[in-house]
Amino acid sequence: MKTVLTKSGKELSPIGIGTYGIGGRGHRDVKLKDKKDESIYVPAIITQLQTGYNFSEISLGYGHGKSAEYFARARRESGIERDELFLTNSIYPRDILDLKVLKEDVEKMYEIFETDYFDSTLVTQSLIVKFGYEQVIKMLWDLLKKNRTRYVTLSNSNKKLIKQFHDEFKGSFFAHETHISYEIRLCQDEGIFDLSNKLGLQTIIWRPLRQGLTAQHNWELLLKLSEKYGKTQNQIVLNWMMSLGFKPEVFSTSITHIKENWEAMQFELTKDDYDAITRHRIPNYSPPKINWDNMGNGDSIVLPVMNFEEDYKKPTQNQ
Ligand SMILES: NC(=O)c1ccc[n+]([C@@H]2O[C@H](COP(=O)([O-])OP(=O)(O)OC[C@H]3O[C@@H](n4cnc5c(N)ncnc54)[C@H](OP(=O)(O)O)[C@@H]3O)[C@@H](O)[C@H]2O)c1
Repeated sequence: MKTVLTKSGKELSPIGIGTYGIGGRGHRDVKLKDKKDESIYVPAIITQLQTGYNFSEISLGYGHGKSAEYFARARRESGIERDELFLTNSIYPRDILDLKVLKEDVEKMYEIFETDYFDSTLVTQSLIVKFGYEQVIKMLWDLLKKNRTRYVTLSNSNKKLIKQFHDEFKGSFFAHETHISYEIRLCQDEGIFDLSNKLGLQTIIWRPLRQGLTAQHNWELLLKLSEKYGKTQNQIVLNWMMSLGFKPEVFSTSITHIKENWEAMQFELTKDDYDAITRHRIPNYSPPKINWDNMGNGDSIVLPVMNFEEDYKKPTQNQ
């Protein structure tokens, strides 16, 4: 795997900072949900930064712009230098109407972060479907050549596009960001992680705890392992992902959870226990089929994740 460092020369932490949720959950095209007291967000990010979490992906649309604003403020107040962090500017197509807005969004993020570079710029397969391969590639090359981004990241992609990006950007293509959770193994079963490993790409996991829902199920195997190791179910899940070489990105506003998640890297399971989780599938749950070639509006991998709670109760409809 490529060793990618912060500009100051530090390795990326095993776990990163999720930012979807800061300022409320939602992109600019939807009403925000789960908005907490505004005063909670900046101290939570400062705690993460000072604990040692040193990478994150941030998108201008998250929290109607509040996510980026609070993150930038927390970074300044934390006393941690910009170049000690690996920050990815994520460009999601859902609330970007046209190329003009896309370019304005990219520029705005440099202003908010008072920086002349991002460590990586993330695009999704759905962004490419929406704006065309040539346009997106041109934009990324432009950013790379002007040193405005050090790397590029692809998100929610099929194998074909991962290979294409690898051929196109070579060493500048750093990571694929996608989803795996205890319940949802679509990328695992599709061979996406195997391909990324073969190409030396870092895999970053979004929504690793399924927004806290995984642990609420008290799945038998997770409960058993939680008791055996004296760790929380969320710690077992994060630890398992890290054992596979993945970097989960977790959003949290709770100082207790931030500490708990950080400590998830400080123990090991036996190989048999890791393998048991890797092999495990939720009984009677058959995930919806994904059209990997299209990934249209970007919801192909996102939808099973969003709909799991409903889907797994009606297995016959999906089989
Ligand atoms: N590339 C993409 O397409 C994509 C898509 C979605 C998300 N993302 C990124 O992935 C990040 C993570 O995903 P997410 O925020 O949707 O979900 P998540 O990180 O799986 O879950 C966050 C939720 O879990 C709770 N939580 C965190 N640690 C916990 C613990 N130890 N015990 C109990 N509850 C815990 C948090 O509540 P508390 O505040 O109470 O801790 C929060 O409500 C996002 O923030 C975003 O940056 C990327």
